[in-house]
Amino acid sequence: MNVFQKFIDSRILGVLLFTVSGLAVAQSTPPATIDAAMVQSTRGIAGELLGQLGQKLKAAMSTEGPVAAVSVCKEAAPAIAHQLSNANDAKVTRVGTRVRNQKMGIPNAWQKEALTQFETRLSQGEKATDIEYWQVADNGHGKNELRYAKAIAVQPQCLSCHGPAQDIAAPLAEKLRIEYPNDQATGYSVGQLRGAVVITRPLP
Ligand code: HEC
Repeated sequence: MNVFQKFIDSRILGVLLFTVSGLAVAQSTPPATIDAAMVQSTRGIAGELLGQLGQKLKAAMSTEGPVAAVSVCKEAAPAIAHQLSNANDAKVTRVGTRVRNQKMGIPNAWQKEALTQFETRLSQGEKATDIEYWQVADNGHGKNELRYAKAIAVQPQCLSCHGPAQDIAAPLAEKLRIEYPNDQATGYSVGQLRGAVVITRPLP
C-alpha cells in the first residue's frame, strides 16, 4: 500500500476505491459519481493553465527580460486562471509552498494536505509531473465537489525569480519588493516542490 492509498484510507468513511491511470480515487459519503472523464477533463484544465502560463513566461523572459516578465506574471497568471474558471464552471488557481501572491496563492486546508502529500511523494522519488491528487468532498452546502491538485516543481528557468534571494539580480529584486512586499517565494532550488495548480468543481 503506498502513501497515497494510506492517506485516502485513513480519511474516507465509505471507502469505495477505483483506479484511473493507476491512482486510487476515493469517494466520500454520500456517494458521488465521479467518473474518469471528469478527472481527465480537470487534469486537462490544470495542463492548460501550466501550458499557457509557461508560454507567456517564456516569451516575456526572452523578449522583455525578467523585470518586465514579473508584470506579465502578475497580470497573466490570475487572468488565465480566471478565464479557465469561467469556461469550465470551476475554481482554478495556483498555490505555493511559500507564497508570493498573498491574495491567490495561500493554500486552504485540503490544499495544504495535498502539498504535504506531494512533498512526501517527491522525496520518495515520484516524478513531479506525475504527481496529482483528488478527492470528493462536501462543499459545505450539502453538495459534493471535486478537489484536484497537480504538483508544480521548480525548474531551472524559475530560479531567476524564485531562487535564493541573494542570487536575484538587483533590479528584479527591487521590482519584486515593490509588487509583492510580503513575498515568501524565494530560496527554492531545482526539483523542489514550488506549489500546485488547484481546482475545485461542483459535482452533480
Ligand atoms: C519573471 C519572474 C518569474 C519567473 C521566471 C517565474 N515566476 Fe513564479 N511567480 C512570479 C510572480 C510575479 C508570481 C506572482 C503572480 C501573481 O501575482 O499571481 C509568481 C507566482 C508563482 C506561483 C503561485 C504561488 C505564489 O507564490 O503566488 C507559482 C506556483 C509559481 N510562481 C511557480 C513558478 C514556476 C514553477 C516557475 C518556473 C517554471 C516560475 N514560477 C517562474 C514570477 C516568476
